[in-house]
Amino acid sequence: MAVMTNSTLETSTRSSTNLSVADAIRTRVSIRKYVQEPMNQDDLREILELASRAPSAWNAQTWRFAVVQSPEVKTKLQAAAYGQGQIGSAPTVIVVYSDMEDTLDTVEETAHPGMGDEGRANQRKTFEGAFGQQDVAQRGQWGLSQANIAFGFLMLAARSKGYDTVPMLGFNPQAVRELLGLPDHVQFAGLLPIGKRAEDGFPQHRHTVERVTKFY
Ligand SMILES: Cc1cc2nc3c(=O)[nH]c(=O)nc-3n(C[C@H](O)[C@H](O)[C@H](O)COP(=O)(O)O)c2cc1C
Repeated sequence: MAVMTNSTLETSTRSSTNLSVADAIRTRVSIRKYVQEPMNQDDLREILELASRAPSAWNAQTWRFAVVQSPEVKTKLQAAAYGQGQIGSAPTVIVVYSDMEDTLDTVEETAHPGMGDEGRANQRKTFEGAFGQQDVAQRGQWGLSQANIAFGFLMLAARSKGYDTVPMLGFNPQAVRELLGLPDHVQFAGLLPIGKRAEDGFPQHRHTVERVTKFY
């Protein structure tokens, strides 16, 4: 896998934007054309760090991120996404996936230090009890439901820092696994092209609260 480090990327200006959560939600729309400039790498790291703060059941943190900035890898990723041009247009594409097997192998890492040694041991027992009898695909599905939370956090974190994104599930997952050297068991929350908008996108079009809500 080709990896582009900070030192090989031109620097671009650090974002001074800090939208509130409400403003990030209201101004987030899918953007498929981006300004052609490299992404500031400190902003990228901050956005990933914010997304990593998402909650998950038992604090499992099943999500993993693969950051694609190399033009060669992006070209191949675009091909795996049926040629969708937003991948090539964005300076950065974050692949968000869930690795439930890694989560289970390293479960002590996610047990809160406040739980103590006994608590950590119990954390492993809890996970073994919950997932030991399930097959890899079944527990992978559970892992994905946790990673989807981080995917949502990632979009809003990006918007809060003045960036735009488009969530994507239109790609061949096996082709992406092969391209990035990821194991067969990983499940994808989605691809997230990210950059500064070079188009307005469509205004949000959503159900009303009344249409989707029952009050009891
Ligand atoms: C899980 C998911 C997968 C999506 N996949 C694609 C995709 O492959 N290609 C694309 O152009 N847009 C994709 N979208 C964007 C949706 O079309 C878009 O979010 C929706 O129409 C609402 O528009 P908005 O994001 O501008 O508010 C996806 C969105 C989500 C949440």
